[in-house]
Parts: sequence; C-alpha cells; structure tokens
Amino acid sequence: MFKAILAAFAALTIAPIGIANAQQSDVRHGAMLFGANCFQCHGRDGSGGIAPKLTGQGNAASWPFERFRNAVLAGYGERNRPLNEIMPHFGYVKIAPSGRIPTDDELRAIQAYLKSVGATPAPSPVVIRDRALRS
Ligand code: HEC
Repeated sequence: MFKAILAAFAALTIAPIGIANAQQSDVRHGAMLFGANCFQCHGRDGSGGIAPKLTGQGNAASWPFERFRNAVLAGYGERNRPLNEIMPHFGYVKIAPSGRIPTDDELRAIQAYLKSVGATPAPSPVVIRDRALRS
C-alpha cells in the first residue's frame, strides 16, 4: 500500500518536471536554430527588423503550426498569400546547421522559442506595490 502511494506520488511529481524539461530543451533548440537562420532579418528575439515581428499575440508565434510551417518552408503567409521573395523558402534553401530541409521537430522548436519570448510571468502585484511604496 505504502509503495503504491509512493509510486503514485512519484508519478505525479516527476511527470510535470519531465514535460517542463522537454519544453525547455525545445525552446533552447529553437533559439539556436533561430540564431543560425532567422535573426538577421527578423531581429533579435524575433521582434522584427527588415522583416516582420514574429513574436506576440496574432503574429507567427501564435499561428497554427501548419501555417507557420507553410510560411517557413514554402513562403506562404496568412490566407496563403505568397510572402515577399526576400523570405527564404527553407524547404528549398535548407536550414543551418543540418544543411537539410527543416524537420517538423525543428520547426516546432523554432515556434516554441518564438512563443517563449516575453512569456515570463508578470511580476507579482506585491513586488510592484513594494516598489511604489519605496519610490
Ligand atoms: C533574408 C531575410 C530573411 C530571413 C533570413 C528569414 N526571413 Fe522570414 N521573412 C522575411 C521577410 C522579408 C518576410 C515578409 C514577407 C512578406 O510579408 O511578404 C518574412 C516573413 C516571414 C514569416 C511570415 C510573417 C507574417 O507575419 O506574415 C514567417 C513566419 C517567417 N518569415 C519566418 C522565418 C523563420 C522561422 C526564419 C528562419 C528559419 C526566417 N523567417 C528567416 C525575411 C527573412
């Protein structure tokens, strides 16, 4: 009985940590890929440069995966609009560092990275009130 409870407890505590680690490593992988292939045009952290901002609500970070994939591989944006030809078609030019057509895992990692930008939890109201009281 005790062992069963222990096992259930272990499953409950370990599972979320495993999921969090998987997401963390996706984000790190995505950051590496973004740095190697995208930041020159889309700006550091995907915040925009000569090419549009990719982060934030409504932008590519929050698009359904299939649409994101279609844009990166084949250069089609929302409602299948052909993107400006400056945007490389990574299904054709390949991605660094593998030198291959990006896999779905790599594309998901890039999108996970873009989603993670600016997603840190807002500071707690207590901290904000503290600061206000001190100033
Ligand atoms: C050489 C410059 C360049 C590089 C490198 C580049 N892009 Fe782009 N990208 C563009 C331009 C320019 C557009 C805008 C095209 C348009 O709106 O017609 C664009 C558009 C996009 C869009 C559609 C955005 C929207 O809101 O419509 C996505 C998604 C995107 N790029 C993802 C990426 C990813 C991911 C990478 C790296 C794997 C990357 N791009 C690398 C230039 C670039």
